[in-house]
Amino acid sequence: MTAEPRVAPPDQTPLDPALLALVEDALARTLREAELAEDLRAACSHAVLAGGKRLRPILVLECARAVGGELADALPAAVAIEFIHAFSLVHDDLPALDDDDLRRGKPTCHIAFGEALAILAGDALLALAPLVASRSPVAGGRIASEVLRGTVAMINGQVYDTLRTFPHGLSDSDRLELVHRNKTGALIEASCRIGAMAAAASADHEERLARYGQAIGLMFQIVDDLIDATQSAEHAGKATGKDAEAGKLTAPAVHGIDGSRREVERLGCEARAALEPFGPRAARLSALVDFLAQRTK
Ligand code: IPE
Ligand code: IPE
Ligand code: MG
Ligand code: MG
Ligand code: MG
Repeated sequence: MTAEPRVAPPDQTPLDPALLALVEDALARTLREAELAEDLRAACSHAVLAGGKRLRPILVLECARAVGGELADALPAAVAIEFIHAFSLVHDDLPALDDDDLRRGKPTCHIAFGEALAILAGDALLALAPLVASRSPVAGGRIASEVLRGTVAMINGQVYDTLRTFPHGLSDSDRLELVHRNKTGALIEASCRIGAMAAAASADHEERLARYGQAIGLMFQIVDDLIDATQSAEHAGKATGKDAEAGKLTAPAVHGIDGSRREVERLGCEARAALEPFGPRAARLSALVDFLAQRTK
Protein backbone atom coordinates (compact mmCIF):
# COMPACT_ATOMS: atom_id res chain seq x y z
CA MET A 1 0.00 0.00 0.00
CA THR A 2 1.39 3.43 -0.90
CA ALA A 3 1.31 6.19 1.69
CA GLU A 4 -1.10 9.11 1.24
CA PRO A 5 0.75 12.21 0.02
CA ARG A 6 1.00 14.70 2.94
CA VAL A 7 0.63 17.73 0.71
CA ALA A 8 -2.43 18.25 -1.51
CA PRO A 9 -1.50 18.78 -5.16
CA PRO A 10 -1.58 22.50 -6.01
CA ASP A 11 -5.07 23.92 -6.55
CA GLN A 12 -6.83 20.81 -5.29
CA THR A 13 -8.38 22.70 -2.41
CA PRO A 14 -8.59 21.09 1.02
CA LEU A 15 -11.60 23.29 1.79
CA ASP A 16 -14.38 21.12 3.23
CA PRO A 17 -17.13 20.83 0.54
CA ALA A 18 -19.84 20.67 3.21
CA LEU A 19 -18.64 23.98 4.66
CA LEU A 20 -18.35 25.51 1.20
CA ALA A 21 -21.98 24.57 0.50
CA LEU A 22 -23.09 26.16 3.79
CA VAL A 23 -21.20 29.35 2.91
CA GLU A 24 -22.59 29.60 -0.65
CA ASP A 25 -26.12 29.08 0.62
CA ALA A 26 -25.76 31.65 3.42
CA LEU A 27 -24.23 34.27 1.08
CA ALA A 28 -27.02 33.87 -1.49
CA ARG A 29 -29.77 33.87 1.16
CA THR A 30 -28.39 36.97 2.89
CA LEU A 31 -28.27 38.92 -0.39
CA ARG A 32 -31.79 37.75 -1.31
CA GLU A 33 -33.17 38.95 2.01
CA ALA A 34 -31.28 42.27 2.16
CA GLU A 35 -33.20 45.48 1.44
CA LEU A 36 -31.45 46.45 -1.78
CA ALA A 37 -32.64 48.27 -4.90
CA GLU A 38 -32.86 45.70 -7.69
CA ASP A 39 -29.90 46.91 -9.76
CA LEU A 40 -27.85 47.25 -6.58
CA ARG A 41 -28.78 43.66 -5.64
CA ALA A 42 -27.64 42.50 -9.08
CA ALA A 43 -24.27 44.29 -8.75
CA CYS A 44 -23.76 42.98 -5.18
CA SER A 45 -24.68 39.46 -6.32
CA HIS A 46 -22.15 39.65 -9.15
CA ALA A 47 -19.51 40.80 -6.66
CA VAL A 48 -20.26 38.14 -4.06
CA LEU A 49 -21.66 35.12 -5.87
CA ALA A 50 -19.62 34.93 -9.09
CA GLY A 51 -16.89 32.58 -7.86
CA GLY A 52 -14.10 32.98 -5.32
CA LYS A 53 -12.21 30.53 -3.12
CA ARG A 54 -14.16 31.51 0.02
CA LEU A 55 -11.00 31.30 2.09
CA ARG A 56 -12.09 33.86 4.68
CA PRO A 57 -15.55 32.42 5.51
CA ILE A 58 -14.04 28.92 5.59
CA LEU A 59 -11.43 30.18 8.06
CA VAL A 60 -14.25 31.54 10.24
CA LEU A 61 -16.01 28.16 10.25
CA GLU A 62 -12.85 26.08 10.68
CA CYS A 63 -11.59 28.24 13.54
CA ALA A 64 -14.99 27.97 15.25
CA ARG A 65 -14.90 24.20 14.74
CA ALA A 66 -11.31 23.94 16.07
CA VAL A 67 -12.44 25.32 19.42
CA GLY A 68 -15.62 23.24 19.63
CA GLY A 69 -18.16 25.75 18.28
CA GLU A 70 -21.35 25.18 16.28
CA LEU A 71 -21.03 25.93 12.56
CA ALA A 72 -24.49 27.53 12.43
CA ASP A 73 -23.46 30.06 15.10
CA ALA A 74 -20.46 31.13 13.01
CA LEU A 75 -22.31 31.59 9.69
CA PRO A 76 -23.30 35.28 10.13
CA ALA A 77 -19.65 36.11 10.89
CA ALA A 78 -18.56 34.11 7.84
CA VAL A 79 -20.97 35.99 5.56
CA ALA A 80 -19.97 39.36 7.02
CA ILE A 81 -16.25 38.91 6.35
CA GLU A 82 -16.84 37.66 2.79
CA PHE A 83 -19.01 40.75 2.14
CA ILE A 84 -16.10 42.95 3.25
CA HIS A 85 -13.70 40.95 1.07
CA ALA A 86 -16.02 41.30 -1.94
CA PHE A 87 -16.33 45.06 -1.30
CA SER A 88 -12.54 45.32 -1.15
CA LEU A 89 -12.18 43.55 -4.51
CA VAL A 90 -14.84 45.66 -6.27
CA HIS A 91 -13.14 48.88 -5.17
CA ASP A 92 -9.62 47.47 -5.73
CA ASP A 93 -10.53 46.82 -9.38
CA LEU A 94 -11.88 50.36 -10.04
CA PRO A 95 -10.04 52.58 -12.55
CA ALA A 96 -8.83 54.85 -9.71
CA LEU A 97 -7.16 51.90 -8.00
CA ASP A 98 -5.86 48.87 -9.96
CA ASP A 99 -8.06 49.43 -13.04
CA ASP A 100 -8.79 45.76 -13.74
CA ASP A 101 -11.31 44.25 -16.16
CA LEU A 102 -11.18 40.61 -15.07
CA ARG A 103 -11.93 39.08 -11.67
CA ARG A 104 -12.58 35.41 -10.90
CA GLY A 105 -12.55 34.78 -14.66
CA LYS A 106 -15.43 37.23 -15.24
CA PRO A 107 -15.80 40.95 -15.99
CA THR A 108 -15.14 43.07 -12.90
CA CYS A 109 -18.15 44.72 -11.27
CA HIS A 110 -17.58 48.15 -12.89
CA ILE A 111 -17.18 46.55 -16.32
CA ALA A 112 -20.42 44.58 -15.91
CA PHE A 113 -22.52 47.27 -14.15
CA GLY A 114 -20.73 50.60 -14.64
CA GLU A 115 -18.60 52.54 -12.23
CA ALA A 116 -21.43 54.18 -10.27
CA LEU A 117 -23.12 50.89 -9.38
CA ALA A 118 -19.77 49.25 -8.60
CA ILE A 119 -18.90 52.01 -6.11
CA LEU A 120 -22.38 51.74 -4.60
CA ALA A 121 -22.25 47.93 -4.46
CA GLY A 122 -19.00 48.21 -2.47
CA ASP A 123 -20.66 50.74 -0.16
CA ALA A 124 -23.69 48.48 0.32
CA LEU A 125 -21.57 45.40 1.13
CA LEU A 126 -19.53 47.44 3.61
CA ALA A 127 -22.72 48.56 5.35
CA LEU A 128 -24.39 45.14 5.27
CA ALA A 129 -21.40 43.36 6.83
CA PRO A 130 -21.71 44.70 10.40
CA LEU A 131 -25.51 44.38 10.20
CA VAL A 132 -25.14 40.69 9.40
CA ALA A 133 -22.32 40.16 11.93
CA SER A 134 -24.40 41.68 14.71
CA ARG A 135 -26.98 38.91 14.14
CA SER A 136 -24.48 36.31 15.40
CA PRO A 137 -26.13 34.40 18.23
CA VAL A 138 -22.83 34.49 20.16
CA ALA A 139 -20.77 37.69 20.67
CA GLY A 140 -22.56 39.62 17.87
CA GLY A 141 -21.34 43.04 19.02
CA ARG A 142 -17.72 41.96 19.41
CA ILE A 143 -17.76 40.23 16.03
CA ALA A 144 -19.18 43.30 14.28
CA SER A 145 -16.47 45.46 15.91
CA GLU A 146 -13.71 43.08 14.86
CA VAL A 147 -15.03 42.97 11.26
CA LEU A 148 -14.92 46.77 11.15
CA ARG A 149 -11.48 46.97 12.83
CA GLY A 150 -10.11 44.62 10.17
CA THR A 151 -11.83 46.64 7.45
CA VAL A 152 -10.20 49.92 8.52
CA ALA A 153 -6.79 48.17 8.54
CA MET A 154 -7.47 46.76 5.05
CA ILE A 155 -8.32 50.25 3.78
CA ASN A 156 -5.10 51.63 5.36
CA GLY A 157 -3.24 48.90 3.49
CA GLN A 158 -4.90 49.92 0.23
CA VAL A 159 -3.74 53.50 0.85
CA TYR A 160 -0.12 52.38 1.36
CA ASP A 161 -0.33 50.11 -1.68
CA THR A 162 -1.99 52.64 -3.98
CA LEU A 163 -0.63 56.04 -2.85
CA ARG A 164 2.68 54.88 -1.28
CA THR A 165 2.45 57.39 1.54
CA PHE A 166 4.40 55.45 4.16
CA PRO A 167 5.44 56.50 7.66
CA HIS A 168 9.02 57.87 7.62
CA GLY A 169 12.11 55.75 8.14
CA LEU A 170 10.91 52.35 6.90
CA SER A 171 13.04 50.05 4.74
CA ASP A 172 11.44 48.53 1.62
CA SER A 173 11.09 45.25 3.47
CA ASP A 174 9.28 46.97 6.39
CA ARG A 175 7.06 48.88 3.95
CA LEU A 176 6.19 45.65 2.17
CA GLU A 177 5.23 44.00 5.44
CA LEU A 178 3.09 47.02 6.35
CA VAL A 179 1.24 46.75 3.02
CA HIS A 180 0.75 42.99 3.29
CA ARG A 181 -0.20 42.95 6.98
CA ASN A 182 -2.87 45.57 6.39
CA LYS A 183 -4.32 45.19 2.90
CA THR A 184 -4.60 41.39 3.12
CA GLY A 185 -3.49 40.11 6.53
CA ALA A 186 -5.99 42.16 8.52
CA LEU A 187 -9.13 40.49 7.09
CA ILE A 188 -7.56 37.04 7.32
CA GLU A 189 -6.60 37.56 10.96
CA ALA A 190 -10.09 38.99 11.62
CA SER A 191 -11.64 35.86 10.03
CA CYS A 192 -9.80 33.66 12.54
CA ARG A 193 -10.63 35.89 15.48
CA ILE A 194 -14.36 36.10 14.71
CA GLY A 195 -14.51 32.32 14.24
CA ALA A 196 -13.08 31.98 17.75
CA MET A 197 -15.52 34.61 19.08
CA ALA A 198 -18.54 32.87 17.52
CA ALA A 199 -17.51 29.73 19.41
CA ALA A 200 -17.01 31.62 22.70
CA ALA A 201 -13.35 30.54 22.69
CA SER A 202 -11.02 31.43 25.56
CA ALA A 203 -8.82 34.54 25.13
CA ASP A 204 -5.79 32.25 24.86
CA HIS A 205 -7.33 30.20 22.04
CA GLU A 206 -8.43 33.36 20.22
CA GLU A 207 -4.87 34.73 20.39
CA ARG A 208 -3.43 31.45 19.07
CA LEU A 209 -5.84 31.47 16.12
CA ALA A 210 -5.08 35.14 15.50
CA ARG A 211 -1.35 34.30 15.32
CA TYR A 212 -2.14 31.56 12.81
CA GLY A 213 -4.18 34.13 10.86
CA GLN A 214 -1.35 36.69 10.90
CA ALA A 215 1.12 34.15 9.50
CA ILE A 216 -1.15 32.82 6.74
CA GLY A 217 -2.31 36.38 5.99
CA LEU A 218 1.23 37.51 5.19
CA MET A 219 1.83 34.29 3.30
CA PHE A 220 -1.36 34.78 1.29
CA GLN A 221 -0.26 38.12 -0.15
CA ILE A 222 3.29 36.93 -0.88
CA VAL A 223 1.76 34.09 -2.89
CA ASP A 224 -0.65 36.54 -4.56
CA ASP A 225 2.36 38.65 -5.60
CA LEU A 226 4.09 35.51 -6.92
CA ILE A 227 0.96 34.62 -8.89
CA ASP A 228 0.97 38.10 -10.45
CA ALA A 229 4.63 37.67 -11.38
CA THR A 230 4.51 34.08 -12.67
CA GLN A 231 1.01 33.01 -13.81
CA SER A 232 -1.15 33.73 -16.85
CA ALA A 233 -4.37 35.75 -16.55
CA GLU A 234 -6.25 32.81 -18.04
CA HIS A 235 -5.08 30.54 -15.22
CA ALA A 236 -5.39 33.10 -12.40
CA GLY A 237 -8.80 34.46 -13.52
CA LYS A 238 -7.49 38.02 -13.13
CA ALA A 239 -4.93 40.18 -14.91
CA THR A 240 -1.33 39.28 -14.08
CA GLY A 241 2.04 40.90 -14.73
CA LYS A 242 0.57 44.23 -13.66
CA ASP A 243 2.32 44.77 -10.33
CA ALA A 244 5.79 45.21 -11.86
CA GLU A 245 4.32 47.38 -14.62
CA ALA A 246 2.66 49.61 -12.01
CA GLY A 247 5.87 49.74 -9.94
CA LYS A 248 4.11 48.15 -6.93
CA LEU A 249 6.05 47.18 -3.86
CA THR A 250 5.71 43.39 -4.01
CA ALA A 251 7.39 40.37 -2.43
CA PRO A 252 9.23 39.35 -5.64
CA ALA A 253 10.38 42.98 -6.14
CA VAL A 254 11.79 43.17 -2.60
CA HIS A 255 12.91 39.58 -1.88
CA GLY A 256 13.16 38.01 -5.37
CA ILE A 257 11.21 34.89 -6.37
CA ASP A 258 13.36 32.47 -4.34
CA GLY A 259 13.50 34.78 -1.33
CA SER A 260 9.69 35.08 -1.46
CA ARG A 261 9.31 31.31 -1.53
CA ARG A 262 11.61 31.00 1.52
CA GLU A 263 9.46 33.57 3.32
CA VAL A 264 6.37 31.49 2.47
CA GLU A 265 8.05 28.42 4.03
CA ARG A 266 9.01 30.35 7.17
CA LEU A 267 5.47 31.72 7.61
CA GLY A 268 4.05 28.23 7.08
CA CYS A 269 6.14 26.96 10.03
CA GLU A 270 4.94 29.89 12.14
CA ALA A 271 1.30 29.15 11.26
CA ARG A 272 1.61 25.44 12.10
CA ALA A 273 3.36 26.24 15.40
CA ALA A 274 0.42 28.44 16.44
CA LEU A 275 -1.94 25.46 15.96
CA GLU A 276 -0.02 23.03 18.19
CA PRO A 277 -2.28 23.27 21.28
CA PHE A 278 -5.35 22.30 19.22
CA GLY A 279 -4.01 18.90 18.12
CA PRO A 280 -6.12 16.93 15.61
CA ARG A 281 -9.02 19.40 15.89
CA ALA A 282 -6.94 21.82 13.79
CA ALA A 283 -6.02 19.27 11.09
CA ARG A 284 -7.93 21.13 8.38
CA LEU A 285 -6.42 24.48 9.38
CA SER A 286 -3.02 22.83 9.14
CA ALA A 287 -3.80 21.34 5.69
CA LEU A 288 -4.84 24.82 4.59
CA VAL A 289 -1.31 26.08 5.23
CA ASP A 290 0.07 23.69 2.60
CA PHE A 291 -2.65 24.65 0.13
CA LEU A 292 -2.08 28.38 0.62
CA ALA A 293 1.68 27.98 0.22
CA GLN A 294 1.31 26.11 -3.07
CA ARG A 295 -1.72 27.68 -4.73
CA THR A 296 -1.24 29.12 -8.20
CA LYS A 297 -4.53 31.05 -8.48
C1 IPE B 1 -7.67 38.31 -3.73
O1 IPE B 1 -8.15 37.48 -2.71
C2 IPE B 1 -7.27 39.60 -3.13
C3 IPE B 1 -6.18 39.51 -2.17
C4 IPE B 1 -6.31 39.86 -0.94
C5 IPE B 1 -4.88 39.06 -2.63
P1 IPE B 1 -8.56 35.97 -3.02
O2 IPE B 1 -7.46 35.31 -3.80
O3 IPE B 1 -8.98 35.32 -1.76
O4 IPE B 1 -9.81 36.17 -3.99
P2 IPE B 1 -11.06 35.19 -4.29
O5 IPE B 1 -12.08 35.52 -3.26
O6 IPE B 1 -10.60 33.76 -4.21
O7 IPE B 1 -11.48 35.61 -5.67
C1 IPE C 1 -5.77 43.45 -3.03
O1 IPE C 1 -4.45 43.26 -3.37
C2 IPE C 1 -5.98 43.55 -1.60
C3 IPE C 1 -7.35 44.03 -1.34
C4 IPE C 1 -7.60 44.68 -0.26
C5 IPE C 1 -8.43 43.79 -2.28
P1 IPE C 1 -4.22 43.05 -4.94
O2 IPE C 1 -4.59 44.28 -5.68
O3 IPE C 1 -2.86 42.48 -5.12
O4 IPE C 1 -5.31 41.90 -5.22
P2 IPE C 1 -5.61 41.33 -6.68
O5 IPE C 1 -4.29 40.81 -7.21
O6 IPE C 1 -6.17 42.45 -7.48
O7 IPE C 1 -6.59 40.22 -6.41
MG1 MG D 1 -4.65 46.33 -5.32
MG1 MG E 1 -5.73 44.43 -7.50
MG1 MG F 1 -2.38 40.93 -6.52
